[in-house]
Amino acid sequence: MAIAIFSSGGDCAGMNPAIKYFVENALFRGLKPYFIYDGLEGLIDNRIKEANFSDVSGIIHLGGTIIGSSRSKRFYDYKYRKQAYENLKRLHIDKLIVLGGDGSFRAMNIFCNEFNLKFIGIPATIDNDIYGTQYCLGVDTALNMIRIAVDSIRDTANSFKRAFVVETMGRECGYLALVSAITSGAELCIIPEIAANLNKSKKRISKEIENGRRYVLCIVAEGTKATQKMKEWLEEEIALETRVTVLGHIQRGGNPSVYDRLMAREFIKEAFDAILSLKECKKAVVYNKSQFALMDIETIASNKYKIDAELLELYKRDYE
Ligand code: F6P
Repeated sequence: MAIAIFSSGGDCAGMNPAIKYFVENALFRGLKPYFIYDGLEGLIDNRIKEANFSDVSGIIHLGGTIIGSSRSKRFYDYKYRKQAYENLKRLHIDKLIVLGGDGSFRAMNIFCNEFNLKFIGIPATIDNDIYGTQYCLGVDTALNMIRIAVDSIRDTANSFKRAFVVETMGRECGYLALVSAITSGAELCIIPEIAANLNKSKKRISKEIENGRRYVLCIVAEGTKATQKMKEWLEEEIALETRVTVLGHIQRGGNPSVYDRLMAREFIKEAFDAILSLKECKKAVVYNKSQFALMDIETIASNKYKIDAELLELYKRDYE
């Protein structure tokens, strides 16, 4: 019995530990493990190779993914999906584990329905924006990368009496920005989910400055496209010299945190348990309230992620 793994879409820390546990689980459970290199592009182009313990020794601490990733436009085309299937058939691979976001899960849903394959998705994206799961692999490491950057920026902001606008990733989702703002004690946080009340913020911050505040940190989620606007607002309304830092892809890299290593281990275990026991399997492993569960990919694909109401309450308390 053969099983393959690939990463798809934006890479994140935690993928390499997952790849290591994938090989170990497969071999211990009597399956032949395969790597598909460079995501769906590699699946189309037959970059598929049998894996062994030696391929995954010394990778647990590495960020990114040793098997590469991609975003594939060709996979939308049936002709290439058929070619991808032929590649798997030749190696007798009928089970797939996918590390990626909901776009990748949707693509696999179509593919596996067309060719009757089993697959399990493991939510892996720093954006934490997949419906049905409170946690996606890579999020904890990304939050820690942001924390290190913001702590460092605070040092210079305080020395110079400046404001800093720090832009985080997350696409349309404000999760990274919100959690980072709360845990860094930022004065302002701008996310797509809630309209900021800048008049109220101005009163609060101006009063703090009168009382001796030397700097202001403002965390902006990229999805708001408000980074430049906030720089201008801080200069004009708060009268602080302001600098902008766009954290960018730094957030995607870095050694996987302890939490992401543990989560990778559990996500992979759950994936194997499911794919080996279920007759039909087009599901993703999800994690809610400290429990792992399986969710149909159809459900994930047909619903839109919403940030936790409890987190939004924290926003309201601190920033509205
Ligand atoms: O989905 C992960 C992510 O890092 C987003 O937060 C970001 O908007 C996007 O990918 C960046 O994509 P790329 O690596 O293609 O520039």
